[in-house]
Amino acid sequence: MSRPVFKRVLLKLSGESLMGDQQFGIDPKMLVLYANQVKELVDEGVEVAIVIGGGNIFRGLQASGAGIERVTGDYMGMMATVINGMAIQSAFEKAGLFTRLISAIEMKAIAEPYIRRKAIRHLEKGRVVIFSAGTGSPYFTTDSAAALRANEICADVILKGTRVDGIYSADPEKDPSATKFDKISFSKVISLGLNVMDMTAFTLCKENNLPIIVFDINKKENLMRIIRGENVGTLVEV
Ligand code: GTP
Repeated sequence: MSRPVFKRVLLKLSGESLMGDQQFGIDPKMLVLYANQVKELVDEGVEVAIVIGGGNIFRGLQASGAGIERVTGDYMGMMATVINGMAIQSAFEKAGLFTRLISAIEMKAIAEPYIRRKAIRHLEKGRVVIFSAGTGSPYFTTDSAAALRANEICADVILKGTRVDGIYSADPEKDPSATKFDKISFSKVISLGLNVMDMTAFTLCKENNLPIIVFDINKKENLMRIIRGENVGTLVEV
């Protein structure tokens, strides 16, 4: 294969992407699917960090509607991401990858605390670094954690795995005339009011010129195609 176009990537996986066809929780098939795809990347020499969401187990914002205080709900969501991180670690190691699970909230018995330089060292040694517990602070999403960590570890790109194949001019399920962008600038996303990530996360990427590729994570070959430089999903850049 030609040289990968990205040396270090941050893959953002939503909690929902672990559910598969289930309504809740973790589908082991999905873990195997992602493990195999990430292994292909690592085998090509790409350094991979992952930020995992928690929405398949717990959604902080919805809980606040159900009487749980917002901040508490956010922390419960962060715990959910640690559970997902442990599942990913286990599945990835079964697939033959070396991994390190890191938690933004200290939980030394199950995950390493976050130390930026140590995380970078793990990546340099070919280990997949799994960032869990979001940013460690309430009021932030795991998209913000992805933007923050990607900048901190000097990732070349954020790969945002979703269930749609890119960014559309409107919701394709509601508007049949919606068209997909192959490429779009940060400012156009804002002026068109498109929803790529929450604004905090998006602004952090924009201000630091960190490109984002939104793509369909459930198409098996997509990650490798992106790494080969093929036009997959939508690229957001300056
Ligand atoms: P280098 O030796 O620097 O290459 O990195 P390393 O991660 O192999 O070294 P270390 O001796 O720090 O870690 C050995 C194992 O212990 C790894 O599986 C780490 O993930 C794990 N580990 C390190 N620190 C912690 C911690 O604070 N909590 C938990 N639960 N595990 C840790």
